[in-house]
Amino acid sequence: MKSTSIIFLFLFILQLSHQTTSEDVEPELTLSSGSIRGTSVDFRGVKVYQFLGIPFAEPPLNELRFQKPVPKKPWNGVLSVNKWGSACMQPVFPGFNTELHLSEDCLILNVFTTDAAFQDKQNGKKNSLRPVMVWIHGGGFNFGSANTASQYDGTPITGLKDVIIVSINYRLSSLGFLHLPEAGVPGNMGLWDQQLALKWVKDNIEHFGGDPNRVTIFGESAGSMSVSAHIVSPHSKGLFKNAIIQSGSIYDLKRWAQPELAKNFLNKIGCESNDYKLCLSNYQFGQASEGLTFWPTVDGEFLPHHPEELVANHGVDPNINVLLGTVGNEGAFELLLKDLVTFHPLNPVNLTIPHAKYIIGKLFGKKLIDFYSERYLASLSADDSDAIRLAVAQALGDTILACPTYALGRDLIANGVPNVYGYVQTQKPSQAVLLVSNQAKWMANVASHADDIPMVFGHPFTKLDKFNNEDVVLSFLMIDIWTKFARDGKPPQISHREWLPWNLSDSTPYPSMVLNSNKIGLIETKSVEFCIKNWPFPLDKPYNMDFETGVYAKMEEDHDEL
Ligand SMILES: *[C@@H]1O[C@H](CO)[C@@H](O)[C@H](O)[C@H]1NC(C)=O
Ligand SMILES: *[C@@H]1O[C@H](CO)[C@@H](O)[C@H](O)[C@H]1NC(C)=O
Repeated sequence: MKSTSIIFLFLFILQLSHQTTSEDVEPELTLSSGSIRGTSVDFRGVKVYQFLGIPFAEPPLNELRFQKPVPKKPWNGVLSVNKWGSACMQPVFPGFNTELHLSEDCLILNVFTTDAAFQDKQNGKKNSLRPVMVWIHGGGFNFGSANTASQYDGTPITGLKDVIIVSINYRLSSLGFLHLPEAGVPGNMGLWDQQLALKWVKDNIEHFGGDPNRVTIFGESAGSMSVSAHIVSPHSKGLFKNAIIQSGSIYDLKRWAQPELAKNFLNKIGCESNDYKLCLSNYQFGQASEGLTFWPTVDGEFLPHHPEELVANHGVDPNINVLLGTVGNEGAFELLLKDLVTFHPLNPVNLTIPHAKYIIGKLFGKKLIDFYSERYLASLSADDSDAIRLAVAQALGDTILACPTYALGRDLIANGVPNVYGYVQTQKPSQAVLLVSNQAKWMANVASHADDIPMVFGHPFTKLDKFNNEDVVLSFLMIDIWTKFARDGKPPQISHREWLPWNLSDSTPYPSMVLNSNKIGLIETKSVEFCIKNWPFPLDKPYNMDFETGVYAKMEEDHDEL
C-alpha cells in the first residue's frame, strides 16, 4: 500500500476514534496462585481487559532482599488488580521519574487481553489462543517501570491487533544488580526477576487466552539488553520463541564493568565491618545509590561466560526468531543527558572539529581519537557545527547501543541461529519520550534513543493532539510488524518488498528495513555494515559514564592536553 493511501485510511480511523473509557464489567479469573479481578476499557470499539499489578514473586523483602526471587505463594479470596502498581526502587530526579510510586515490594506484572481472546478461552474454543508479547522496560538497569502508564500502556497494541501484552517489573539499581558473592548476593537479581516473570507467563497466560508456545519477548535499551541476556543465558531457554531487540545488546559487558563498584557501594553505606549481611539488611535505598550505576555481571550462573562466548560456543537455541534494530542516531539523546551545556537543546555551544576530538577523547580515551575521527569526522565541513555535534552523537550511540546490537545479530547468524531480521527507524515521533528531544533544535530531524517507544506502544492512537498523520502511519506500521512477527516468527512483506533474514551467503548479507513513513519498503545496509566491519571497537578502558557538563569550556583549561 502506498503511504498516501495509508494516511487516508488513518484520517478516517482517527475520526472514528473515541477516548478510552472504563466500563462496568470486571473480568475475573482463577490462576494456580489465586483469583484476580481486573478492569475493562473500550479501545475503538474493542473491549480490552487490563489486569494491573499481578504479583509473580514473593515481595523481595527481609531475608529475600538481594536474593533471587521466589514464586508468589497462593492467596485467598479475590485480588483486585485494576490499578497501575508501584515501580521498583530507583534514584529520583525531579521532572524525570517523580510521578512513579516507588516500593521494594514491586515484583508485579500487567496483562492486557481482549474480551474476544478471553471468551474464546473460557468457552474452550480450539486453536484460538493468541500470541503473547512480554515487554521488558528500559532505563539503564537503574530506572524505569512497567507501570509507567504514560509510555507502556499495552491497550492500543492489544486493542488493534488482538494479541496479549504482558509488561513486567524487575528490581533495579543496587537492589537488582549488586554483585557481592562473599555476602551471598548473587548479582543479576533483576534478570532473575524477569526470568521468573517469563516462567509465570508460560504457566499462566493460557487463562487469559494467550498461547504459552508463542511468547515473544521485546524490550528497549536496558530492556533490549535484557532480551539479549535471555537469548544467551542457559536458564531462560524454552521460555520464549521470538525476541525483539530494540536498541541495545548485552555484548561488551567488560566495557560497563566497574570492578570497584561493590566496594564503593559498601563504603558509601558506611559498611566498615565485614558483617556484610548486617550492613545490607540495614541499608535504606537512596542513601547511597545515587551516583552509582549498577549493571548485569558475568556471575557464573545466569551468565556463565561473557555473552560473546556463549554465542560463539553455540549456546543459543537455534529455533528462536530475532528481530533487531536501532533508531537513527542513538547517541544524541545520551549526549543531551551527559552534557547539557555543550549539547544544550536551544543554545548549544558551536562545535569545531578540535572540540569534537576533545570530547571523543573524554568519552573513549585519547588513544582512540584517531580511530573515531577517521570514521566519523573526516568528511565533515569544519563550520557545520550541527553536523559535527551529530557525528559525536553517532560515535557514542554506535559504541554503546547500535553496534553491539548489530554485532549480536552477526554472531547469531554465524553460529547457527538462522532467523535474524534487521530494521532501522529513521523517523522521529512528534512527541518523544523525553520532551527535550523534540525541543532540541540540533536534533530536530534525527530519530534518537527511545523514539521507537511512542511508535510501538501506539501513542499516536491515544494522544491524538500530540501526533500527526505521519506518526500514525509509522506507529500502525510498527505495531503491524511487531505483532505479525509475534504471530509468525517472521516480519511481513512491506509494500511488496519481502523482508529477508540476514544471510551470509547473500551479496547483501545484512538487509535492514527502513522504518519511516516516507520510505516504506526501502532497505538500508550501510549503518549495519559499518558496525559489522568495525566491531569490536578497540576500546581498552571502560567508556566514561561520568562525562561532565560543560566539556567545551574545560577544553580551554586543558589546552595542553590536546
Ligand atoms: C554559532 O554560530 C552561528 C553561525 O555560525 C552564530 O550565529 C551563533 O551565534 C553561534 N553561537 C554561539 C553560541 O556562539
Ligand atoms: C541465502 O542467500 C543465498 C544466496 O542468495 C540463497 O540461495 C539462500 O536461499 C538464502 N537463504 C535464505 C535462508 O534466505
